[in-house]
Amino acid sequence: MEHVFFCTGHELKIPNIVKSEGLYLYDKQGKSYMDLESGVWCTSIGHNIEGINGIIKNQINSLMHAGFCYSNEILEESAQSILKAAGFNHGKSVFLCSGSEAIEISSQMAKHLTAESVSLTLHDSYLGAYSSITDKSRNWHLLNWEQCKICSDKDKCDLSCEVLKKIPKYVSEFIFEPGSSSGFVRFPPKAMIKNIVKIVRDNNGKIVANEVTTGIGRTGKWFGYQHYDINPDFIAVGKGVGNGYPVSIALINEYTARQLELKPFHYSQSHQNDPLGASIVKGVIQYIENNDLISEAQKNGALLQKHLESIVDKEIILEVRGRGLMFAVDIKNEGLTNSIYSELIKKGYIVGNRGSSLRIDPPLTITKTEIDGFIEVLRETISHVKLFR
Ligand SMILES: Cc1ncc(COP(=O)(O)O)c(C=O)c1O
Repeated sequence: MEHVFFCTGHELKIPNIVKSEGLYLYDKQGKSYMDLESGVWCTSIGHNIEGINGIIKNQINSLMHAGFCYSNEILEESAQSILKAAGFNHGKSVFLCSGSEAIEISSQMAKHLTAESVSLTLHDSYLGAYSSITDKSRNWHLLNWEQCKICSDKDKCDLSCEVLKKIPKYVSEFIFEPGSSSGFVRFPPKAMIKNIVKIVRDNNGKIVANEVTTGIGRTGKWFGYQHYDINPDFIAVGKGVGNGYPVSIALINEYTARQLELKPFHYSQSHQNDPLGASIVKGVIQYIENNDLISEAQKNGALLQKHLESIVDKEIILEVRGRGLMFAVDIKNEGLTNSIYSELIKKGYIVGNRGSSLRIDPPLTITKTEIDGFIEVLRETISHVKLFR
């Protein structure tokens, strides 16, 4: 691939994939790969799903894209279905193209409404690719919660804690990533998050749940923030909601939507509220509901967690962190992670390689038999790597 510029920082491992189906990718030679990373954590219901393909074809045959002043009823239907899943009755949705954009617009709306300029997030959050998000030298307060990870009083976190005292009095919004932590699957303590939300809200700041990774059933609930007993003002949804198609959504709760009516906000890009993306969102939500995939993610996630914990030997496999079907497996060093990762690819299994951890985020459709099969191969691979290290 001489003329393609790859700049994600990842090496291309399999350049000749020609087919996909459900949990599997197939290369030109017909070799199959079980995709336990769901692409870039996007194919929430698996690759090449017939029902979704049918929806895409129908929508393309009616209206894929139109100008800002013309549209199709699918937008309203889709907005209603995602707002219902989020429990944002009477809220509003704006359909966009990437997770980064859903965060960006939520942050812009929060700044517009609060007239504050500083955004708050946890120091290890990943929020997207845009410079307004990646350039943390300007208008950001990064709350370092390292010491909360080892705090013995995690459940009793109170407002007098030194960590919380560092929060600036006025921020436009707190962007909360409920559990990915730059891909390392660390779950901030519930009491700490509730306190941060209280401090920000008491000073009229907004709360944005960054559900780009944790949303759409990934953590065993529709959204990751639902493990925290908080009510965000905005929810940024991406990845899994398009099942591989680049659509994202910023959800706005009823109160905030009313505020935006009184203080109009403008943001436009060419593909905002495109009917094609909206039709896919509605189809994915319906598929998850019809197949009871949130319960399946809880059930199969618990099974996978049990299996993964059983391979922790503190010699090579140090720790497993997970919630629902989102896992990080910490490995002793990067060399061993690379060996396990490469061996798994040879055997036809794709997991994420994050240097000191492996990421495992299969589609919500993964079955018990597939989990059992993968764990058997993972055990063999670890024994092999142990023998030849
Ligand atoms: C937690 C989180 N937020 C935001 C993003 C940005 O989403 P996108 O890559 O679709 O722009 C990602 C992408 O990996 C993510 O994991």
